[in-house]
Amino acid sequence: MRVGYYQYHPEFGAPKRNLEKVEDSLAGVDADIIVLPELAFTGYFFEDRDELQELAEDVSESPTVHGLSRLCKNNTFYLVVGFAERCKGRLYNTALVIGPSGLLHRYRKLHLFNTEKEYFDPGDTPLNTLEIRGAKVGVMICFDWVFPEVARTLALRGADLLCHPSNLVLTYCQKTMLTRSLENSVYSVTANRTGKETRPRGELLFTGQSQIVGPKGEVIASSNSDEEAVVLCDIDLSDARNKLITENNNLFADRRPEFYDSIV
Ligand code: ACM
Repeated sequence: MRVGYYQYHPEFGAPKRNLEKVEDSLAGVDADIIVLPELAFTGYFFEDRDELQELAEDVSESPTVHGLSRLCKNNTFYLVVGFAERCKGRLYNTALVIGPSGLLHRYRKLHLFNTEKEYFDPGDTPLNTLEIRGAKVGVMICFDWVFPEVARTLALRGADLLCHPSNLVLTYCQKTMLTRSLENSVYSVTANRTGKETRPRGELLFTGQSQIVGPKGEVIASSNSDEEAVVLCDIDLSDARNKLITENNNLFADRRPEFYDSIV
């Protein structure tokens, strides 16, 4: 299975231009699953809920989802993309999984970061996995990295691969994802964006350094902080399904949940 990411700089408030850029950059790419950043078409740093409301789309009538479905169909790959979602008066920071037959799965960010809390509604979708070409895929979004429960829940639900659209502004996540992969014996693809957004509320610089991490916590591929790049690698799912960390220690079977009651 070949997986990867597209690290790039989405232009704020220009979903059509961002879609065209993604279409141009991914046309002809030979991959099974490609992960794009969080809020990959609208940009990130909204002024307020009104501005988000203007830019968010309902998946049932979204030119972005339509264009991405066509892109997947023409290239026979699957995409995991960050998306500003409008649904029944609510606004979610969502990740969509889209394939050659269209939209397959949506995950709405559970753990909103900083000012996101002012304009997004908190996510309300369960941490489920879905199967793509034999791989069990789990989706988490950016700041979910700081809650180990998210990756663990997805791994306990069978995920081989964590797809992690991100718009990171802090510098801790990339290192932490090595641990999230190791402690769950899963692959992870963190697709972060690059560039700066200068907006009415201030300026944000995104940290790039997207990466693909293996089940032993090893970085298989990565980018620097400002390049735009499609990066792919071949992964062996059997490595993620082996949960032994020594011959006498199984990451899942050795858990003692009867002592973990304070975390639920
Ligand atoms: C983040 O969750 N976008 C930092």
